[in-house]
Amino acid sequence: MRIGLVGYGKMGRMIESLALERGHSISAIVDPFTDADKKFPSGAPLCKDIASAGALEASDVVIEFTHPSTVLDNIKALTERKLPVVVGTTGWHDHLDEVSSWVAKSGSSLLWASNFSLGVNLFYEIAAFTAKLLDPYAEYDVGGWEAHHNKKADSPSGTAKTLVETVLKEMTRKSKAVYETLEHRPPAAEELHYPSLRVGSVPGTHSLFFDSPSDTIEITHTVRNREGLASGAIQAAEWLAAAERKGMFTMRDVLKTLSRKN
Ligand SMILES: NC(=O)c1ccc[n+]([C@@H]2O[C@H](COP(=O)([O-])OP(=O)(O)OC[C@H]3O[C@@H](n4cnc5c(N)ncnc54)[C@H](O)[C@@H]3O)[C@@H](O)[C@H]2O)c1
Repeated sequence: MRIGLVGYGKMGRMIESLALERGHSISAIVDPFTDADKKFPSGAPLCKDIASAGALEASDVVIEFTHPSTVLDNIKALTERKLPVVVGTTGWHDHLDEVSSWVAKSGSSLLWASNFSLGVNLFYEIAAFTAKLLDPYAEYDVGGWEAHHNKKADSPSGTAKTLVETVLKEMTRKSKAVYETLEHRPPAAEELHYPSLRVGSVPGTHSLFFDSPSDTIEITHTVRNREGLASGAIQAAEWLAAAERKGMFTMRDVLKTLSRKN
């Protein structure tokens, strides 16, 4: 499979190296801020933007890991070229409806996930199950927190939002997420409080507490390294390119196929 890379930062580099290990090739790398003199392991041409990246057209699929400020422009440019795209950048999910309409109009395909790690996607399923199980037991309140490195641009993380929305869907007692600091008031009964911490080099930790007067049931997912994220994005790209798929997809769709195989 020929993979185009848009964004050649921490994730783009790791995806390149894992993709080569899995026998894929890289058609082109798009990143306006990467050193053009540097030799890339894949030998792919470096382009400053999608518009001038002719070699990108030969991609079976494009993987996008850039920045919340540029991701929507990139998605638009890639879907207009009808290139199947896997989007890892977070911080744009409030625009899902708009993006869906671009994808539908162009007849292309887009797979997005706030977190590509297999473990996190299984963690969402565990969180949904636990929330549903504990919903009838009013003595168990629910809340949580997430931690990431101090260079992360968006807060709360996309993963935190997906996790909290997953819990809200299953818990009739909770209807509203609150990510901000609660100034001078306790949370209302229907609110689920889920603040963010930004510190050091933490790759990503998400916790949920189901807390009663007598005990706490705590579930936590801790990322140990970015490899799981990069390999999940490649598995998603393989899934998207494997069939004539049109429309919007998430890691849930990939997981359905993987769970049938395992
Ligand atoms: N969904 C997931 O599983 C997952 C995992 C890790 C990171 N992320 C998200 O992915 C994004 C990137 O993460 P990272 O750790 O690689 O960041 P990074 O800062 O290391 O790399 C981002 C790269 O994008 C490049 N870039 C900026 N504007 C660009 C443009 N217009 N076109 C092409 N490239 C451009 C930058 O030069 C940089 O090299 C962030 O939003 C992060 O939160 C998501």
